[in-house]
Amino acid sequence: MSTYAALPKVELHLHAEGTLEPELAFTLARRNGVSLPFASEEELRAAYDFTDLQSFLDLYYATTAVLRTRRDFHDLLWAYLERSAAQGLRHVEVFFDPQAHTSRGVAFTDVVDGLHDALTRAGTELGITGGLILCFLRDRPVDEAARTLEEARTRLDVLLGVGLDSAEVGFPPGPFAGVFARAAELGLRRVAHAGEEAPASSVAEALDALGVERVDHGVRCLDDPDLVARLVREEVPLTVCPLSNLRLRVVQDLAEHPLPAMLAAGLKVSLHSDDPAYFGGYVGDTFDAVAAAQGLDDATAALLARNAVDGSFASPQRKADLR
Ligand code: HPA
Ligand code: ZN
Repeated sequence: MSTYAALPKVELHLHAEGTLEPELAFTLARRNGVSLPFASEEELRAAYDFTDLQSFLDLYYATTAVLRTRRDFHDLLWAYLERSAAQGLRHVEVFFDPQAHTSRGVAFTDVVDGLHDALTRAGTELGITGGLILCFLRDRPVDEAARTLEEARTRLDVLLGVGLDSAEVGFPPGPFAGVFARAAELGLRRVAHAGEEAPASSVAEALDALGVERVDHGVRCLDDPDLVARLVREEVPLTVCPLSNLRLRVVQDLAEHPLPAMLAAGLKVSLHSDDPAYFGGYVGDTFDAVAAAQGLDDATAALLARNAVDGSFASPQRKADLR
């Protein structure tokens, strides 16, 4: 049981596909007649030994092959929601990667509707609120992202916003400016991964070219004092994922994670799990791991939780409930 179970948690950096545990992957593989390139759950779990972001993404995209139907997407997110409810989850803004599925012949609507089914059920059965954030894959062509956004017009009622993820190095945010402008016209909120592996300049580019309201990861902003000053002044939320940073070797040891420096600088930092099935911990586990590695006093834990509420796209009424 997490020490921080009673602290109301808000997840702002959580990839639906990153919640696929090996057990469910094999269940879905059997159900859909799909074969995985691993003999067993243990063998798959043993492959979770990453050297960088790309080595993780290769496995992450390979295992998505088991996700085929609306029901699969429901079952995937529902398993995450049930498990996280026990760790104090109250609100979640879920990233998903439609291009990873439509490129395999899965219907866009089955992906969105299945995930939305799980969120609707979580509202009723678990008291968890949330929404869906459609992420474009930055290492795929911009016109594919534009087509994906046009497909999303049939589901604007269930989409909270758009994001940008996948391989960072060599794939800057700038080329997606037009797609993000169109998303804003459609009334969607905007976030992007930046400053995870790519340098601080990618964070500034996401703010300037895409108009993002939150930055996912952003840890490398510390390399640029002017950028830090701007992020503090503009109160830009940064969704930090220490277990991800450890497993993808952005940091070599959790004790060396720059979270304390980010807090000391006055940045609006919050703690999230990113891809919990792959990185060894859900949101409560993330608080526990930081506490074990660095110490975490109650006031700081409460600040991290409150920053997540403030940085969320929940309604003012819901934010008041979550605080
Ligand atoms: N970074 C980039 N892309 C991703 C990640 C991440 O941490 N997780 C899933 N897709
Ligand atoms: Zn991420």
